[in-house]
Amino acid sequence: MTVRVGVIGAGWIGKEHIRRLTETVTGARVTAVTDIDAARATEAAAPAGARVLPDGAAVVTADDVDAVLVTSWGPTHAEHVLDAIAAGKPVFCEKPLATTAEDCLKIIDAETAHGRRLVQVGFMRRYDTGYRQMKQVIDSGRIGRPLIVHCAHRNPTVPESYTSAMAALDTAVHEVDVLRWLLDDEIVSAQVVTPRSTSKRFAHLKDPQIMLFETA
Ligand SMILES: NC(=O)c1ccc[n+]([C@@H]2O[C@H](COP(=O)([O-])OP(=O)(O)OC[C@H]3O[C@@H](n4cnc5c(N)ncnc54)[C@H](O)[C@@H]3O)[C@@H](O)[C@H]2O)c1
Repeated sequence: MTVRVGVIGAGWIGKEHIRRLTETVTGARVTAVTDIDAARATEAAAPAGARVLPDGAAVVTADDVDAVLVTSWGPTHAEHVLDAIAAGKPVFCEKPLATTAEDCLKIIDAETAHGRRLVQVGFMRRYDTGYRQMKQVIDSGRIGRPLIVHCAHRNPTVPESYTSAMAALDTAVHEVDVLRWLLDDEIVSAQVVTPRSTSKRFAHLKDPQIMLFETA
């Protein structure tokens, strides 16, 4: 059986997912693509032989789309994920799931009401060999119980559209996911400290940011 996938958002990661689904993953085919930039959608759809649709709602409800991939900007994710749940279609949403706690809860409520898991978020570290080995060592108890975990996320460059809030919503969100998984614990508080910024940043950006998470 071939799963027919519709893609919402044909930017950097959207194109990469289309490439992987077309060239390296078996059992899947991209059939529909949309982007608010129509030229981008056309360019991204071509190698997959997919058609271009006008918007996310059209992708979600298309007859030739069995599953949805959301790779648009973070603030638009919740709308498309909720549409997919309403259509009863499985949806892979790039992180973040949403950019507010309210929208995350709305999605959880909608999925729970549907009665079956439909949503997966693009947190890939859990599948990475190095992270899996680290989890094995922690779970084995060989080095005792973790006291402090020091994580560093360094982006060599970011586009000018990257905002200070995205350091938490788009970047450190990977740490939030992987720490809950590695430590088998919940985060109960978070604090962001913004020290003096590097002169090499964009003027609007707080860089670096130090985030302190406390677990239960
Ligand atoms: N898991 C990872 O490690 C990883 C890596 C890169 C990006 N991402 C996530 O993927 C998402 C996209 O990132 P990107 O780097 O590809 O950004 P990008 O700006 O290159 O691409 C986003 C695209 O979405 C389009 N778009 C925005 N809103 C839309 C909407 N409502 N409907 C249709 N198209 C829309 C834009 O025109 C753009 O082409 C972000 O949420 C980002 O955090 C995750």
